[in-house]
Amino acid sequence: MLAASVTSFSPDSPLDGLEVGDAPEPVTPEHWTTVDVRAASLNHHDVWSLRGVGLREEQLPMILGTDAAGVAPDGTEVIVHGVIGADGHGVGPRERRTLLSEHHPGTLAERVAVPAANLIPKPAGLSFEEAACLPVSWLTAYTMLFTAGGLAPGNSVLIQGAGGGVSTAAVLLGVAAGLEVFVTSRSAEKRERALSLGAAAAVAPGERLPQRVDVVLESVGQATWKHSVRSVRPGGTIAVCGATSGDAPPAELTRIFFQEIRIQGVTMGTRDDLAALANFVSTQDIKPLIDSVHPLQNTQEAMARLLSGAQFGKVVITV
Ligand SMILES: NC(=O)c1ccc[n+]([C@@H]2O[C@H](COP(=O)([O-])OP(=O)(O)OC[C@H]3O[C@@H](n4cnc5c(N)ncnc54)[C@H](OP(=O)(O)O)[C@@H]3O)[C@@H](O)[C@H]2O)c1
Repeated sequence: MLAASVTSFSPDSPLDGLEVGDAPEPVTPEHWTTVDVRAASLNHHDVWSLRGVGLREEQLPMILGTDAAGVAPDGTEVIVHGVIGADGHGVGPRERRTLLSEHHPGTLAERVAVPAANLIPKPAGLSFEEAACLPVSWLTAYTMLFTAGGLAPGNSVLIQGAGGGVSTAAVLLGVAAGLEVFVTSRSAEKRERALSLGAAAAVAPGERLPQRVDVVLESVGQATWKHSVRSVRPGGTIAVCGATSGDAPPAELTRIFFQEIRIQGVTMGTRDDLAALANFVSTQDIKPLIDSVHPLQNTQEAMARLLSGAQFGKVVITV
């Protein structure tokens, strides 16, 4: 079958190790099933894999991709929860948690094997392309806002880096949930677009907000950490899911302990969170924001789009 795989690591030139070509059919152990992939979306996780983060040489080639929407063997339209081993399902309670494409082949392929328990019905109102955005970026944004952040209608949130997959999801979910949403972006055009999605204010990275916020969603890392620590109210929460720009900012420990700021790490979310998210987007008629759609054969071009940082929303692959 056709698949996009990482075949070698290149920390400085990640596209060099990306190959689209023939790959072995998926193997389905007991209690697993095979999904015919119709769409998958690119995530920064795929970039880290190409850079050699989280994988070992002896695991190569590894099929990339951590989320998908497709069709189960019984004809049901499904989305794929990409966390294997969480909640004790799929591979047994003592197997450590992994994401698809870390230990098991990923979703940038014609077919993918997953534990049957990892399938969630696709919301009927979403296309396969839109539904493929939910299991990673959208689930992470949902968990950061409502589980880690504990946000409720009327609360305020700052979302760093408005254009990203996680960030655009957080803006749309936050606005739909009645939050006061602030964003930062390096691009004036992306700031305008965030305002058009319902953000209350959009500022350049590092610029002072009109007020301090209850929760900050931090996925940019080094470039925005100082601003995140200064923008959250005393006793507020910074939910962290990534460090796209680097992982070595000054820790700002003095301000963190003096202002009693809570730092909460997030990795995606549970299957139940994904089901709740699917229900939320259905009842609120929310459509994931797609930057561009590329056929699987053109994964190189799609990955280049993600690496450029010019995207606003999700970069989607169709199979
Ligand atoms: N823990 C998890 O489960 C999980 C899940 C999903 C993602 N992540 C992580 O979260 C991060 C974002 O993921 P994503 O898929 O949303 O990535 P993405 O679509 O590539 O978005 C990254 C955004 O970060 C901003 N940014 C990048 N470099 C910046 C810099 N130097 N200064 C200021 N802003 C910068 C950009 O916003 P502007 O262009 O608007 O400034 C960009 O749109 C990644 O590191 C990823 O690994 C983690």
